[in-house]
Amino acid sequence: LEILIKGLRRLEYRGYDSAGVGIDGGNSKEWESNAKSIHLIKQRGKVKALDEEIHKQQDIDLDVEFDVHLGIAHTRWATHGVPSPVNSHPQRSDKNNGGVCLEFQNKGKNLESKGYEFESETDTETIAKLAKYMYDNRESDDLSFATLVERVIQQLEGAFALVFKSVHYPGEAVGTRRGGPLLMGVRSDHKLSTDHIPVLYRSSGKDKKSCSSIPRTDQDTCLFPVDEKAVEYFFASDASAVIEHTNRVIFLEDDDVAAVVEGRLSIHRIKRSAGDYPARAIQTLQMELQQIMKGNFSSFMQKEIFEQPESVVNTMRGRVNFDNNTVTLGGLKDHIKEIQRCRRLILIACGTSYHAGVATRQVLEELTELPVMVELASDFLDRNTPVFRDDVCFFISQSGETADSLMALRYCKERSALTVGITNTVGSSISRETDCGVHINAGPEIGVASTKAYTSQFVALIMFALLMCDDRISMQPRRREIIQGLRVLPDLIKEVLSLDDEIQKLAEELYKNKSVLIMGRGYHYATCLEGALKIKEITYMHSEGILAGELKHGPLALVDKLMPVIMIIMRDHTYTKCQNALQQVVARQGRPIVICDKDDQETIRNSCRSIKVPHCVDCLQGILSVIPLQLLSFHLAVLRGYDVDCPRNLAKSVTVE
Ligand code: G6P
Repeated sequence: LEILIKGLRRLEYRGYDSAGVGIDGGNSKEWESNAKSIHLIKQRGKVKALDEEIHKQQDIDLDVEFDVHLGIAHTRWATHGVPSPVNSHPQRSDKNNGGVCLEFQNKGKNLESKGYEFESETDTETIAKLAKYMYDNRESDDLSFATLVERVIQQLEGAFALVFKSVHYPGEAVGTRRGGPLLMGVRSDHKLSTDHIPVLYRSSGKDKKSCSSIPRTDQDTCLFPVDEKAVEYFFASDASAVIEHTNRVIFLEDDDVAAVVEGRLSIHRIKRSAGDYPARAIQTLQMELQQIMKGNFSSFMQKEIFEQPESVVNTMRGRVNFDNNTVTLGGLKDHIKEIQRCRRLILIACGTSYHAGVATRQVLEELTELPVMVELASDFLDRNTPVFRDDVCFFISQSGETADSLMALRYCKERSALTVGITNTVGSSISRETDCGVHINAGPEIGVASTKAYTSQFVALIMFALLMCDDRISMQPRRREIIQGLRVLPDLIKEVLSLDDEIQKLAEELYKNKSVLIMGRGYHYATCLEGALKIKEITYMHSEGILAGELKHGPLALVDKLMPVIMIIMRDHTYTKCQNALQQVVARQGRPIVICDKDDQETIRNSCRSIKVPHCVDCLQGILSVIPLQLLSFHLAVLRGYDVDCPRNLAKSVTVE
């Protein structure tokens, strides 16, 4: 239970409106009558509430001896059915504690017509019922749990990640995925005898033979491990839940069925699909436990904001050579020539990641001399946007799991475009399904409101732009200027972070307002959108990012002496136009707060208040202008008394469309 609850706490950032655990009955006296049952404890609210409920339930004695050490747990972000204990997972097939029970994400088919009584409003409960139906109607008693699950998933449509346990298969767990993320942690005190788990294909002939071409742990059964040495297995939707136990993980592929039976793991598939490697590698992750702990900070978001001087360095590490002004991106090297020949670049993403595309569009257009489209994944799909084989489509995603972005990726692949992933999560669906890509290496981001991933995505896209023009003589002075800007960027970020106290004071003046407008243009339009998104996400204040060029076409009507207006004015090619916008706001009795270059006396004089940031090359300045807004949103949320890391109704990784 402790392992499960701890694991849930680590995953809480992905959803936190309810949580539950399902464990086997123990074998102490009190548990005897329940020995063949699954004990479900579910609670509305955060994992803490579940933990308290577990301790409250008299009959759960943590000292009890268990026959089997198997349990499943889930923390939920409601889509179908309100947050409530009964809608929380695990879902079960049978109210009377028997049958199959599972942790899940997403869609199933309805079995009500077959006489199965449903408890919850979730679509997933149907999967548990379906498993029970198939078990009840099995043709022979030697149906294995893995085969049962294989049959169940053949009936399912849509995306899911599932872990099953059952009283009919005591001590066994089966996990499977399609679209939803699922990995396995493998922990052993002994050296593992192999770093590959062969896949068992149900169909015979050629497919089966393919199993023998890779290192085998057990020639006959493809089971792992071969000897009796103890191995612990964890199923989880991301590595942060298992990293304190092991850094060795297996990323399961869509439609893999992984079964743990008596301490042995086997991976099954119905048939081998084209391009499927007939084994799953046990990979060693670089993630450190410390990276997913708050340390001395009050929230993950605050920690992640202050990590940015290091996270941008990690994005550039080994890739930017500041002495000879070159950029190397290993993940793109085999495709860069093809990208240089393309018709256009399409950047596709959601939320903050979309803003990283907006922020770098101009410099991408400048350095690649290609048309660049920036698209919100959902809208891109809604429009059935024409995509051609000579397009290059970028998928920018911190988690690499966002369903809309993933669907857009598959849409572009079907149209034979080259696909490039810009992700922060090794092994994520987007990083695996794209043809090539760049890992931003910002380290795990836990705060729901994205901060360091944004600045690292920004840097990664700039590096790509630099790489695209590295052999263009006419571009060299500009390239050098940008690369030297990247060199000083970490120190400049530190300088901006030192404004924290000043920004906190500003937050104290603003936190009782209902609205904040943020205006800018050119390189800083993205900063306005991103700053407004941060404020909306965690402070629940209304906030709008406004393109200053559009001010007189509507937004100016919102300006009066009470409305807080933040304006971003930097010394770049839009400076004069921004000054005009500032004058227009002042003329309507607005009281602008400006984020500007620290030596820009003119702007400072014309504003009510200024946040003075250091100067950097124009196309990187957006990294420095966004940080004050990250800090401001953080302080506003704290002052308004909200949980910064767990904003209401939002989740970090949105794996549903
Ligand atoms: C959610 C998160 C946002 C994030 C967006 C895209 O809405 O709350 O912070 O920007 O998803 O996520 P991705 O992982 O694809 O970057």
